[in-house]
Amino acid sequence: MTILVTGAAGFIGANFVYYMLKQYPDADIVGLDALTYAGNLDNFSAMTAEQKRRFHFVKGDINNRDEVDWVFSEYDVRAVFNFAAESHVDRSIYDPQVFLRTNILGTQTLLDVCKGHWKTAVNAWRAGRKFVQISTDEVYGSLGPEGLFTEETHLDPHSPYSASKAAADLIVGAYHDTFGMPVIITRCSNNYGPYHFPEKLIPLMINNALNHKELPVYGDGRQIRDWIYVKDHCRAVDMVFEQGRPGAVYNVGGNNEHENISIVKLIIDTLRDLTGDEEINPDLIRHVQDRPGHDRRYGIDATRIREETGWEPETTFEDGIKSTIRWYLDNREWTEKIVSGEYMEFYEKNYAGR
Ligand code: NAD
Ligand code: DAU
Repeated sequence: MTILVTGAAGFIGANFVYYMLKQYPDADIVGLDALTYAGNLDNFSAMTAEQKRRFHFVKGDINNRDEVDWVFSEYDVRAVFNFAAESHVDRSIYDPQVFLRTNILGTQTLLDVCKGHWKTAVNAWRAGRKFVQISTDEVYGSLGPEGLFTEETHLDPHSPYSASKAAADLIVGAYHDTFGMPVIITRCSNNYGPYHFPEKLIPLMINNALNHKELPVYGDGRQIRDWIYVKDHCRAVDMVFEQGRPGAVYNVGGNNEHENISIVKLIIDTLRDLTGDEEINPDLIRHVQDRPGHDRRYGIDATRIREETGWEPETTFEDGIKSTIRWYLDNREWTEKIVSGEYMEFYEKNYAGR
């Protein structure tokens, strides 16, 4: 079978490509990615020769109908996993438009081209064809101290990012209801792990601490996120692809809520233990101006996916965060190339003209 992964060169997309290459040894994977600032071909450097033979990278934009159409004409795509998105909340506050373009219109373009190629969309599910939309728990808005998001929770997004993801969810649902498109939507909480772009909380704090730079904590730092190891998310997406119901939404969460400030302190302590560097200490923490519209708490009820597929998160936060921090220590060059901008040259040097 041929699987299309959009946003393959990003954080979760790249982890998912590795996961699926292992999980489906007979499958080919097409990775479609526009290589925005967040796309990094270095993320594929750990592939074995055998995996490289089954992985086909295409530089292309989900907003560009012709480019997407080319992929569907070239490959007999059985499954689409749409990870492509503008993903950073802070950027969406300063420049919302690209979020609306990629996350909403790009998703609709992808759906539409896919519908055209899968022609009898209504029968596509029976033929094993599926479109999995990777959404986020942020579409539900913010929780008080109690309660969890279920799939029935009212959509109440607050940032341009989360509003664009909520809009995409509605469009994906509309393609199911109107055209019978074989879709599934997943809504996951905060991922962490290897290849996480160093603008996001965990990799940013690791990189700043290693370089003895200030650690900017927004507001009081007592906002709560539910953290999940990226591989557990990848497995969840695969399990709903295999066992999920057409048109259904599945929450995915780590059952692992922490205040931001406690994550930052944990990173400091773990890094100091691993490196013996005494300059990595809480004096680096700076409470800075809060993010506008900052959601206070996310918490996930993942009963549905557990009951319908048997999925549960397997990695404890203690193990996951340690191995993530070790990965960043062992791969300092990966972050350094991003910070210096060198990672952007990878495509020209290794792929362009192929
Ligand atoms: P990321 O920013 O690391 O990667 C996004 C990838 O999409 C990049 O490789 C980028 O080049 C590509 N891309 C952007 N615009 C594109 C376009 N127009 N056409 C083709 N490719 C394009 O993001 P991520 O953290 O890996 O998130 C992946 C998906 O998972 C997103 O849809 C996001 O909303 C969702 N999600 C993320 C998290 C999280 O904690 N990171 C949690 C839940 C859901
Ligand atoms: O919940 C899922 C979402 O998680 C995904 O949909 C998004 O794509 C992903 O980016 C992530 O969004 P967050 O806004 O929660 O992640 P971020 O790493 O940007 O921030 C995590 C928390 O840390 C948040 O409360 C803001 C805070 N923060 C973040 C940064 C970058 C800081 O205090 N300081 C910082 O420098």
